[in-house]
Amino acid sequence: MIPRRSLGSSGLEVSALGLGAGGLGDPALSDRDVQDLLGRAGELGVNLVDTAPSYGESEARLGRALAGQRDAWVVSTKVGYGVPGVPDWTGPCITLGVEQALRRLGTEHLDVVHLHSCPAEVLERGEVVAALTDAVRAGKVRAAAYSGDAHALYVAVESGAFTVMQATLSLLDQHNAPTLGLARRRSLGVIAKRVLANAPWRFDHEPERPDEASYWRRWREAELDLAAPQDTALRFAAHHPAVSTALIGTRSAHHLEAAARAVAAGPLEAETAELLARRFAERGSAWSPIT
Ligand SMILES: NC(=O)c1ccc[n+]([C@@H]2O[C@H](COP(=O)([O-])OP(=O)(O)OC[C@H]3O[C@@H](n4cnc5c(N)ncnc54)[C@H](OP(=O)(O)O)[C@@H]3O)[C@@H](O)[C@H]2O)c1
Repeated sequence: MIPRRSLGSSGLEVSALGLGAGGLGDPALSDRDVQDLLGRAGELGVNLVDTAPSYGESEARLGRALAGQRDAWVVSTKVGYGVPGVPDWTGPCITLGVEQALRRLGTEHLDVVHLHSCPAEVLERGEVVAALTDAVRAGKVRAAAYSGDAHALYVAVESGAFTVMQATLSLLDQHNAPTLGLARRRSLGVIAKRVLANAPWRFDHEPERPDEASYWRRWREAELDLAAPQDTALRFAAHHPAVSTALIGTRSAHHLEAAARAVAAGPLEAETAELLARRFAERGSAWSPIT
């Protein structure tokens, strides 16, 4: 069974494995494919789905797939850009972005809404944070969240304005770990993203997509020699002490089932966990964070 945990102090309960819907805007997928994937996720005990307006048709497709089962899900999305006629990273862009997401996702409230890679200086200006807080007060959003990495993530967690945060954490990218620890001490819910580091072990040659290529090069440099890298990556992130839920980005029910089995197997053996920490400490300082 996939464990359930509190999402920090948000009052929401989430499965330790969440479905990252970044790939669900893929034009090769149909509405039916998305419905089937969501159905299988629910059967496996996954109850959080994470989307964003920048993921193509993902929000709209999920909205249609969630009809009739909205209450079974913790729905997470993002704002900050992409509202026609409104400048990005302004108060009105947040307010209207929430309305846009409510419409696309076919719901009366959103469980988690992140400021999606919001720069530190925008956070410090206060306007977008105030607009998101207003949406929480109005009952349109349950938990105000920040999604991002490195310094901006630290500024967000330190600000005390957010109940939930989302950041990269994988065996090939542990830069955010100290900030995740801070978030845990402050009772924030923590959503880990990119936990498979885009599964670089599946490529024989360097892939073309820049983020996949970076992870592929790191994977080779890391020389981890793991028997089951996929399972190790999922157990590492989903059972990290600060993490509430780890997202797997997948369009495949088969991959989701494999991920559910890995997370249900529990935390990594101490020896493997120590190897991952040591190898990142030795080689990871040369790898910049990937957002
Ligand atoms: N807030 C942000 O800025 C941000 C940024 C990045 C990601 N995210 C969130 O995090 C989620 C996950 O991120 P991600 O998709 O970039 O990274 P990821 O989960 O590390 O990797 C996903 C990739 O791994 C493949 N994969 C999954 N299981 C596999 C398996 N068993 N064998 C082979 N390949 C497998 C997937 O392909 P298949 O589809 O074929 O399974 C997909 O291409 C996103 O969907 C999104 O919700 C947020």
